[in-house]
Amino acid sequence: MDAQTTFIIGIALVTLLVVAAVLSVALNRGPSAGPVTGSFDRRAAKAERAARKAAARARAAASTDETGSATVVLAETPEDTEPIPDPLMERETISAEEYGVNRRMFFNRAILGFFGASLGFFGLASLAFLWPKLKGGFGTPVSAGNIDDLRAEVIQSDGTIKPKPIPAAQAWIVPFRGDVSKSILADVADTVIVGAGAEPGIMAIWHRCPHLGCRVPECLPSQGFECPCHGSKYNFHGEYIEGPAPRNMDRFRVTIDAENNLIIDTGTIIETSRAPVKSVAYPQGPSCL
Ligand code: FES
Repeated sequence: MDAQTTFIIGIALVTLLVVAAVLSVALNRGPSAGPVTGSFDRRAAKAERAARKAAARARAAASTDETGSATVVLAETPEDTEPIPDPLMERETISAEEYGVNRRMFFNRAILGFFGASLGFFGLASLAFLWPKLKGGFGTPVSAGNIDDLRAEVIQSDGTIKPKPIPAAQAWIVPFRGDVSKSILADVADTVIVGAGAEPGIMAIWHRCPHLGCRVPECLPSQGFECPCHGSKYNFHGEYIEGPAPRNMDRFRVTIDAENNLIIDTGTIIETSRAPVKSVAYPQGPSCL
């Protein structure tokens, strides 16, 4: 069973659990058990009787004081001599079995246990789902393919640029034309694979807008990147042109492996400040926004 299947099963289990919990609560809701009776009522009645007798004694004492002779004699009844019960001592003794496992507690504990086990399973399934991405997805080196093929793909026959998306790296592959040493990238190592002779360089630009993180699409007519969220615009080197973005589009460190493949190190994101002088013209046609 692969990670995705495990994840889907986890989602289904959690959904079943939620439905079961809702049904359980709904079915256990019923009319109340009626008025409270039992030892509480007995204690209240005894207390009331004792209070009545105390009041009668108080009245008799008051009558004796006023007439000078005792006119009322209260006979002691067995209830008068009966000690006032201690409520704590009147607690009913129940068996350990009744205490530990009555019906409601059993279901409550079963539901809680089921929830706990399912959450644990769901957590493990989520971890299993995410784990493979730590071994080759974003955040790790990603191969974008042969660099000569990439160069041919991103530069069209009419000389215009058509950036190539690399989804696993969240990157646009674009050519770098011009002199790196005269660009804003001069101070940033390993952001461009410089071409031999007249060959353009190759670089990988993060497709995430440095303003608020929207994915920035390419705009072929204007030969740049234009963010649909708040209108930031960049040329095809990712250099800031206009809009609320605080800097150029971010880049990744790039290298070439032994098979001449472009390796994008998505764990190394390089930020550059706005270039005072742009290394490629923008716009070269109508905007897409
Ligand atoms: S997110 Fe791109 S301009 Fe705001």
